[in-house]
Amino acid sequence: MTSAPLTPHNILQLGHGFWAAKTLLSAVELGLFSELAAGPKTVAQLRGRLGLHERGARDFLDALVALHMLERTGDRYANTPETDFFLDRGKPSYVGGLLEMSNARLYGFWGGLTEALRTGHPQNEAKHGGDDLFDTLYADPDQLRKFLGAMTGISFGLARVIAAAFPWAGVRSFVDVGCAQGGATVAIASAHPHLAAIGFDLPPVRPVFDEYVHAHGLAARVRFQPGNFFQGPLPAADVIVMGHVLHDWDLAKKKILIGKAHAALPKGGMLLVYDAVIDDDRRENTFALLMSLNMLIETTAGADYTGADCIGRMRDAGFTEARVEKLTGTHSMVIATK
Ligand SMILES: C[S@@+](CC[C@H](N)C(=O)[O-])C[C@H]1O[C@@H](n2cnc3c(N)ncnc32)[C@H](O)[C@@H]1O
Repeated sequence: MTSAPLTPHNILQLGHGFWAAKTLLSAVELGLFSELAAGPKTVAQLRGRLGLHERGARDFLDALVALHMLERTGDRYANTPETDFFLDRGKPSYVGGLLEMSNARLYGFWGGLTEALRTGHPQNEAKHGGDDLFDTLYADPDQLRKFLGAMTGISFGLARVIAAAFPWAGVRSFVDVGCAQGGATVAIASAHPHLAAIGFDLPPVRPVFDEYVHAHGLAARVRFQPGNFFQGPLPAADVIVMGHVLHDWDLAKKKILIGKAHAALPKGGMLLVYDAVIDDDRRENTFALLMSLNMLIETTAGADYTGADCIGRMRDAGFTEARVEKLTGTHSMVIATK
């Protein structure tokens, strides 16, 4: 039996992956899916509504059909069930804030990946001697709001899985450390009416968090506590949640944060870390490995980590039990008990 000839197909397709990604990001930027949420439309109608030139419009829409982001029946285009639910700005399930941030910031910054690999330096706003990611973003109220909303895009769906999978029944209170807009805080508190929650984050986050919590009718049970987690203790609660926080920092700071969580918990209390946790053999979770490269682009020393690494740091800090539980194809939670 002769083996099939080698083809460069997979290599070339991967090398042009940015074509597909940017097509989707531009569709989100243009508000295409929000426009189609009202009902199917023709090319001419969409050109009029979105201000598209005739030349690329049909190819753009049909490329999105081929990418399974739109459906076409006759001459009319419609959202798929997924794009209608997650990419219509008018729905609370909208996750496009994350893609809007990727489009406005990361898409360009990833152009500096080779330089980041050579120098180890971030390629975002901090590239030309700026401050750290959070200082830079938070100096501009518009950027702050967009960044915090983008975090909800990535954490809200994960937190719904956490709300269902974690043993919340015996817990009275939790602190969401580095809560951003409160996407995870709200998803967990909404699912469990017996819980009281604190969102802990830097002071400029407060108005964005308060507005989001208020809009979800949770102000009686969920409050904001401003602070800097590298200065002073973390607020005390039965459970401490840290989502997409540890990967922002180097190993020494990861250890400080895990140690502060240990100090703030009662005996029997639990630390729940969630991130794009890399598989221990570091070869399967592509998204997590690319997320770690994204931390190279975005932070001065951050990196993602394996479940085994995280469990090791938790044990070093004094936690007695620690385990990894998968949340989605890309994310896991690491749960440790004091
Ligand atoms: C990547 S976001 C993660 C947001 C959210 N937990 C999630 O999973 O989507 C990191 C959060 O840590 C917060 N943060 C950064 N430095 C901080 C500090 N020194 N003290 C408190 N919060 C901080 C940021 O403001 C931001 O909201």
